[in-house]
Amino acid sequence: MNNIVIFGAPGCGKGTQSEKLIERYGLHHISTGEVLRDHIARDTDLGKVANQYISEGKLIPDELMIDILAHTLDNEAKEAKGVIFDGFPRTLPQAHALKKMLKERGTDVHAVIGLEVPEDILVDRLINRGIQTGRADDNLETIKKRLEVYHDQTTPLKGYYTDEKLYHDIAGDKTPDEVFEDIVSRLDPIFCPAEEK
Ligand code: AP5
Ligand code: MG
Repeated sequence: MNNIVIFGAPGCGKGTQSEKLIERYGLHHISTGEVLRDHIARDTDLGKVANQYISEGKLIPDELMIDILAHTLDNEAKEAKGVIFDGFPRTLPQAHALKKMLKERGTDVHAVIGLEVPEDILVDRLINRGIQTGRADDNLETIKKRLEVYHDQTTPLKGYYTDEKLYHDIAGDKTPDEVFEDIVSRLDPIFCPAEEK
């Protein structure tokens, strides 16, 4: 399996770039945000709990989130030749859990793509998406909280993955195609594109 973590602040382009990467490398996409929003839309018990955290821009507690990820991995990605993890891990305990989980399944994280975008651009993108799509956490108050949580709880992962020699810093404030080209220039030497396999 070839596994990628796509990492960065709210609105940095994790979902946008994941779509392109799935096609190029033939990977399965797991977005923990999408998994949770699906539960909220279906009004499941998990959805009810998740909604309380997401609407306040807070993280779902690690233990619960790690269980959800393991369940998603085993149910949706069993046959996958690799996975893009979008929005997971977001804390150091989640990063350690992911490593353990993948090791138990005979694999590992092979690259981490960190998308860097200035904060004013992130806010503009999210406000615009909120207007266009009605995504509930794309309002200014929740966006500010999400950015604060990202700085406090998620940025330590950069150091963790740099020490693991997996971290690739990518400027995310170019056009989506330009960002993708930069990502591919880092990943092609590691993974063969799907059509070449
Ligand atoms: P999640 O859904 O992961 O949200 P997020 O991290 O806030 O990121 P977004 O999905 O908003 O942005 P993105 O980076 O995917 O950017 P996108 O490509 O969409 O998580 C939501 C919530 O769920 C969390 O707040 C938390 O409560 C909970 N949660 C999820 N995972 C968790 C975990 N592991 N632990 C605990 N809690 C968890 O782009 C954004 C916009 O910009 C789009 O409109 C797009 O078209 C546009 N855009 C993208 N790229 C460009 C570009 N290059 N130029 C111009 N516009 C662009
Ligand atoms: Mg996303």
